[in-house]
Amino acid sequence: MFLSLLVLVFMALKCLKPTVTLQPSWTQIYSGETVTWTYEWRAAKLNTPPTSNEHRIIRATESDSGGYSCRGRRDYFFSEWSDIITLTVSSSNRPVVTLYPNWSEIYRGETITVRCEIHGGDTEWDYEWETNSRIKAPNQNEYRIRSASSSNSGNYRCKGRMKSSQHKTTEWSDSVTLTVSDNKPRPVLTVSPSWLSPGASVTLNCEVEHPSAGWSFYWYKAVPDLSEKSSSYELLPDGSGTAQDSYIIHGQTHTAGYVCRAGRGDPEYHTDHSQPEFVWSADVHSAASLTVSPDRVQHFTSDSVSLTCEGNFTEWRVRKFSEDGRLYSDCRRMTGSTCNINTSKSDTAVYWCESGSGEFSSAVNITVQNDGNGPILVSPVHPVTEGASVSLSCSLRTQKILSNVFFYHNDKLIQNDTRGELKISAVSKSDEGFYKCQYSGRESAQSWMSVKGDSSFSLLMIFRLILGFVFVFLPFLLFRCSKGENFFLFLYFKHKVH
Ligand SMILES: *[C@@H]1O[C@H](CO)[C@@H](O)[C@H](O)[C@H]1NC(C)=O
Ligand SMILES: *[C@@H]1O[C@H](CO)[C@@H](O)[C@H](O)[C@H]1NC(C)=O
Ligand SMILES: *[C@@H]1O[C@H](CO)[C@@H](O)[C@H](O)[C@H]1NC(C)=O
Ligand SMILES: *[C@@H]1O[C@H](CO)[C@@H](O)[C@H](O)[C@H]1NC(C)=O
Ligand SMILES: *[C@@H]1O[C@H](CO)[C@@H](O)[C@H](O)[C@H]1NC(C)=O
Repeated sequence: MFLSLLVLVFMALKCLKPTVTLQPSWTQIYSGETVTWTYEWRAAKLNTPPTSNEHRIIRATESDSGGYSCRGRRDYFFSEWSDIITLTVSSSNRPVVTLYPNWSEIYRGETITVRCEIHGGDTEWDYEWETNSRIKAPNQNEYRIRSASSSNSGNYRCKGRMKSSQHKTTEWSDSVTLTVSDNKPRPVLTVSPSWLSPGASVTLNCEVEHPSAGWSFYWYKAVPDLSEKSSSYELLPDGSGTAQDSYIIHGQTHTAGYVCRAGRGDPEYHTDHSQPEFVWSADVHSAASLTVSPDRVQHFTSDSVSLTCEGNFTEWRVRKFSEDGRLYSDCRRMTGSTCNINTSKSDTAVYWCESGSGEFSSAVNITVQNDGNGPILVSPVHPVTEGASVSLSCSLRTQKILSNVFFYHNDKLIQNDTRGELKISAVSKSDEGFYKCQYSGRESAQSWMSVKGDSSFSLLMIFRLILGFVFVFLPFLLFRCSKGENFFLFLYFKHKVH
């Protein structure tokens, strides 16, 4: 608008010039005859020249740039061509508002800059902001918010005002919305698998609500801190500020807890720590273990069950991770290293012990019966060793069932006869899985029976492997290795055989 107005005024003024030269007192003499003058215009773009004394360019574009001149005509009489005026139309100088960084969601406390950018030209501008946020932006091209809050939320638009000519302004920019969320994001950690199996790696995944938005990740392991009723966190190796939202742990053999958090920006803003997540080991050979009495996975409601922490430590706490994903640290009745429970449905959970010096025990599943009058499956709490014998049975609150029990393995009926027990004389890996029993139309819950490899068997395998290795490669090693390397080989050998 500003530009087309410019042309209009300027042209009208210029076009007077020829008449002025022609007839110095033109305005007075010919005033009534103005209508009889027609005008011609010269400009590269005008293929049908206008004949009015006013040439209006409605929406100036760059292609309207160029020289313009005009002359007047009255009957057969022409005025001179006016001087040429040069019109320059530059591309739009409408400002653009940018957020830096341009994350779609900003959290309380983050640092963000709102910028007003006017492209092209070397004009100097003053800046004006218009915003419906509670905190207003100062009239500068850059508004740096050092610690954002929801009061900064709102739509922002800006315009420029020429320093040299204060009444000349750009148009308003489009408005940009800044949303500052007052809650602190808490990332969600997932650990997979939940139960350790020998040799498998553990993968941690950390997820913040908007994963695309510039986060880096911090990975911690939980270290039990009994005095705090919580845990402290220790950074994992190379676990500081990874670009990846996952972290892989190799060779984990014990129950462990992990935590993650995320950070971004400069200065760096940190999210809260995630809830701790655990990977459990069923292996009772670890430094600490948990035993259950009575020694079975399933229990009736209102049963007295005791969980005992075993290991060379004086102080313990029993932890419980319930079916609905909640973590508990307090055993209501803890005497020494034993936690006594009067069971209810909500006690169905994974249990483990944590020692005062930061050890995690092996973990167990406990299932409290659903159906008050139904049977429970009596199955081992701890993994059964390959080759050992095991016997599963079915029990009512009042008595052990001695006959006519159906047993299911992974929902498949495997025993339907008059016997009351399922006996497996030499357990193999294929016996692992979910078991349940059924008695006179009522079914127990199902429970996992875990089978672990015979450790003496696998040690023998390792022994053989090493022996094979030594026999094949020893000649080379003897030739090529320094004393130091041979020594290393023997150390390894000895360790594995033990
Ligand atoms: C942020 O800016 C980048 C390029 O600088 C662009 O690819 C991305 O789409 C922008 N994101 C948002 C949410 O505007
Ligand atoms: C506990 O149950 C899960 C399946 O619900 C199973 O994967 C895990 O091995 C069980 N742990 C033990 C110690 O049996
Ligand atoms: C267990 O709780 C039930 C119901 O609350 C109660 O009747 C029972 O006496 C309790 N048993 C023990 C051993 O505390
Ligand atoms: C238990 O710990 C004490 C002190 O740390 C140590 O002397 C003892 O040998 C340990 N016993 C076992 C069975 O590990
Ligand atoms: C169990 O075995 C009996 C006798 O063989 C048979 O009649 C019955 O249908 C079987 N039950 C199931 C659930 O397969």
